[in-house]
This record gives sequence, structure tokens and C-alpha cells, in this order.
Amino acid sequence: MKYIEEGEEILKRCNSKKCNDCYGLVPSLVKHEDKIYITYEPCKMYYYRKIRERLKDFVIEIPIDKNFSNFVIDENLEGVINTVNLYLRKELYKKGYGIYFYGNTGSGKTHLSFAILNYINHNTDLFGFAVYIPEFIQKIRDHYSSGDIDINPVLEVAKIPVLLLDDLGAERYTEWTSEQIVQLLDFRYRNKLATIITSNLKLNDLKEKVGERIYSRVVGLSKPVLILNEDFRMKEQDW
Ligand SMILES: Nc1ncnc2c1ncn2[C@@H]1O[C@H](COP(=O)(O)OP(=O)(O)O)[C@@H](O)[C@H]1O
Ligand SMILES: [Mg+2]
Ligand SMILES: [Zn+2]
Repeated sequence: MKYIEEGEEILKRCNSKKCNDCYGLVPSLVKHEDKIYITYEPCKMYYYRKIRERLKDFVIEIPIDKNFSNFVIDENLEGVINTVNLYLRKELYKKGYGIYFYGNTGSGKTHLSFAILNYINHNTDLFGFAVYIPEFIQKIRDHYSSGDIDINPVLEVAKIPVLLLDDLGAERYTEWTSEQIVQLLDFRYRNKLATIITSNLKLNDLKEKVGERIYSRVVGLSKPVLILNEDFRMKEQDW
């Protein structure tokens, strides 16, 4: 749980000295034509903490050690990095645009996605979390079979401002599971919420594997970006 505390240390916060338990709106005084007014600055940390607490069984906090400073860029990755730079520089995540990273295992899809989310968490007024799809599906299944109706995890996760869906299409989905994913993607599409997706499958294969309904929403939500790189996990053992 080390990352949670460290992560919070550098997340963009409000100016309140007690941001650790601020209430989302922080008063500040401004002077205008000899009069003093009180204004309220929204603090995203309040919502961040609330969501983290409420959805802790379903979402993953972005590990801060997966960032741009330790992401090695060789010539294979230059095009990808240009696209990512453009995405961040033009603040396309604010308009609900997303990216579908696909490519072989170990090519850096998850690392790069975490780096994007870390950037957004630490430098902007928005924030995001990740779900690891194979695990998420298992968790929502367990949740519904436990009869807990307090939380609708699919709908609540769908509302997270920036969301990473890691490893989509790693397995075949049942009809019920597909329906959950369709609902999640549909909500994000209708509300223009930025969604980053990683998958080992190119779009045609994704369609084959998870069906037309998920596929068409993925296409509506994100721009496909191929990551062509050798398996970095093997490189790490190259000694
Ligand atoms: N370009 C890179 N620079 C530094 N580390 C990398 C790079 N690509 C991958 N890695 C590391 O290799 C491992 C596998 O990468 P990961 O992003 O999980 O791959 P994928 O999601 O494509 O299967 C991780 O530990 C990741 O941090
Ligand atoms: Mg991955
Ligand atoms: Zn605050």
C-alpha cells in the first residue's frame, strides 16, 4: 500500500493546508474593486479519496513507478510516443477521446497507459483509476452473487473521469459479462469520458473474440495505436 500514500503526496491538490480532509470545495478570498469576495475552488482529491474508498474492491490505484521518466523510448516507440504527446498536449482526455493500445505481450501497453494516467492525476484537475478486466469481471460476478445491492460497481466505475481498462479481450465473455462491459462502455461513450484500453488483440480479432457490441463501442471510444516492441520482460532478464 506504499504507492497510495506516496501517490497522494504528489497528486495535485487544493491549496487548503488540510487537504487530507477537505470537503471538495475550498474557500478563498479575492479582492475586486475594493470589495472582498469569497470564492470556492474545487478540489479533486476529495472525489479521488471518496471513489477510492467506495470502489476499493473494484479499481486499481495507478502505481506511480510506471511513469514516463522510466519508460524507455527506442525507435520502435517513437510514433507511439508522438501520438501520446499529442493526446496530452491537446488535452484530448478532457473531450472524452481515448486510446486503444494493442500489441504483443510485454510491449509496454500497460506501463504506457499507467504513465498517461499518472500524468493526468498529477498535473490536471481530472483523475483516473484502472481496472484489470479479467479480475474486474470476476469481482462483479462475486459481488452480484453475494446479493450486495448497495453498490452498482459497473455504473460507478463507468463514472470515473478517466478510466483505464487493462487487458480487454484476454478471454471470451459470457452473455452476462458482455452485457456488463457494454453498459460500462456505453455510459462512457454517451458522457464523453476518456477511456484508455489495452489489449493483445488488433481490432478485427477483438471483434471476433468479444463480439460486435463491445467492438463497436471500443471503436467509438478510442483511437487504435499499435505498440510494436519486443517483450520487455525478457529484456529485463538480459544479463
Ligand atoms: N519501453 C519500456 N521502458 C521501460 N519499461 C518497460 C517498457 N516496456 C515495458 N516495460 C516494462 O516491462 C514489463 C512489461 O510491460 P507491460 O507494460 O506490462 O506490457 P504489456 O502490458 O504490453 O503486456 C513491465 O514491468 C514494464 O514496466
Ligand atoms: Mg498489460
Ligand atoms: Zn483538497
